[in-house]
Amino acid sequence: MIQPIRRCCVRNIRGVTFALVMSVALSLLFLEGKPRADKINFDDHERGRGDSFLIYRPFSTTKKVDRAVRHVAFLKVHKTGSSTAQNIFLRFGWNHNLTFVLPPAKNPFGYPNIISLREGPTSSNVLPPPAGKHHEILCNHVIYNRTSFRTYLPKNTFYVGILREPYECFKSTLNYFRPGYIFLKIKSPAPGSDYLTDPLKYEPESAISSITNNRMAVEFGCSENLVKSKNRDQIMKFIKQTEQDFGLVIITEMFEESILLLKRYLNWSIKDALYLNKNIAHRKNVSALVGPYDRELYKQWATIDYALYDHFYKRLRQQIRKEGNDFDEELLHFAEIRRITSEFCSVSGKYKDDKLAVKESKWDEKFELAHTDCLLLQKQEMHFVKEIRVRQYGSEDI
Ligand SMILES: *[C@@H]1O[C@H](CO)[C@@H](O)[C@H](O)[C@H]1NC(C)=O
Ligand SMILES: *[C@@H]1O[C@H](CO)[C@@H](O)[C@H](O)[C@H]1NC(C)=O
Ligand SMILES: *[C@@H]1O[C@H](CO)[C@@H](O)[C@H](O)[C@H]1NC(C)=O
Ligand SMILES: *[C@@H]1O[C@H](CO)[C@@H](O)[C@H](O)[C@H]1NC(C)=O
Repeated sequence: MIQPIRRCCVRNIRGVTFALVMSVALSLLFLEGKPRADKINFDDHERGRGDSFLIYRPFSTTKKVDRAVRHVAFLKVHKTGSSTAQNIFLRFGWNHNLTFVLPPAKNPFGYPNIISLREGPTSSNVLPPPAGKHHEILCNHVIYNRTSFRTYLPKNTFYVGILREPYECFKSTLNYFRPGYIFLKIKSPAPGSDYLTDPLKYEPESAISSITNNRMAVEFGCSENLVKSKNRDQIMKFIKQTEQDFGLVIITEMFEESILLLKRYLNWSIKDALYLNKNIAHRKNVSALVGPYDRELYKQWATIDYALYDHFYKRLRQQIRKEGNDFDEELLHFAEIRRITSEFCSVSGKYKDDKLAVKESKWDEKFELAHTDCLLLQKQEMHFVKEIRVRQYGSEDI
């Protein structure tokens, strides 16, 4: 910390004086305050032969026993950043040998990672668990259905959802899916804009066949009737039920905070909670799809999605407040470890035997990150699900 100041200022005498004063002041600071156990000491950063080590000072808290919650359902909602979140659940299940709820490899949706786009889990869209096992974790696309989720997952399952600011989700949906009922029917420079002037003119008959009719709510199990009626009281009832069922709803705009809360609620380790950003579209040209006044139109149309989003946005902030000041401290720590992870994983392929050692913290035991961990963090959903299928059933075709 002090060195660079000295080096940069050697050329002028005032600089030297300044640097000396500063370094004396800083060393006094360090001498006076006893080293605090909860502060990262950057001087402890060591590099050994062939290994990179990041050493943090040990903390004096007692070690946690492994009380990690293992039964989890993650509702993977389209175009919300859910692939990034899903990797956390895939990895947790993989590392703990959990039994996943999986669809048959060949299914009506044409993707081995989709349980259903129209309904909850059923005996025809879900494979039975391997002999002697029971389902423990679900994190593939499916519609939430309170009853049917509970027939496949244990009673003590923790439910996690995800929501994104609805208009951002809509733009991303247009950009990614280019739904035929909009793009084939409307021949104009900004089809999304034309669509929003009268959505019902273009929407499919049933909401479940649509990707733009309050789709987030629909994936959370909102009924056809409610999507049609948009009855206020019924919407509130739907939201209350969702709140009861889902212990945590990740808000994409507060992703890192959400994941830290998830880690705390599920008693997972910081290593379990790590993630690298996935599936982020780099070539966005939504200017071609919507106009500058369309956000308001969309708000009038997607009333249930907005009600849901606003409610769970506020609940997440409340939940975070309940965690106390310590949450922000851990958030900084988490962000730091995520940066270090991302830097390590960006080169770990070149130094396959290197390990990143992270010392214990106030919140976690020490852990090591190896190249194999990076491979899991980087693994695309499709490949991951295939490997889980092979491990679970001995075949990628079942
Ligand atoms: C998971 O299973 C593998 C092989 O079947 C085994 O080596 C490993 O120890 C298991 N891991 C856990 C956490 O049970
Ligand atoms: C939810 O699942 C139950 C049990 O599988 C089924 O009877 C019911 O029709 C489903 N509800 C909807 C709205 O699909
Ligand atoms: C997590 O662990 C704490 C104590 O370590 C415990 O009080 C809490 O019930 C656990 N949470 C869950 C959901 O099991
Ligand atoms: C985005 O779309 C607009 C309208 O079609 C077009 O004029 C513009 O060149 C596009 N920009 C990019 C970066 O493709």
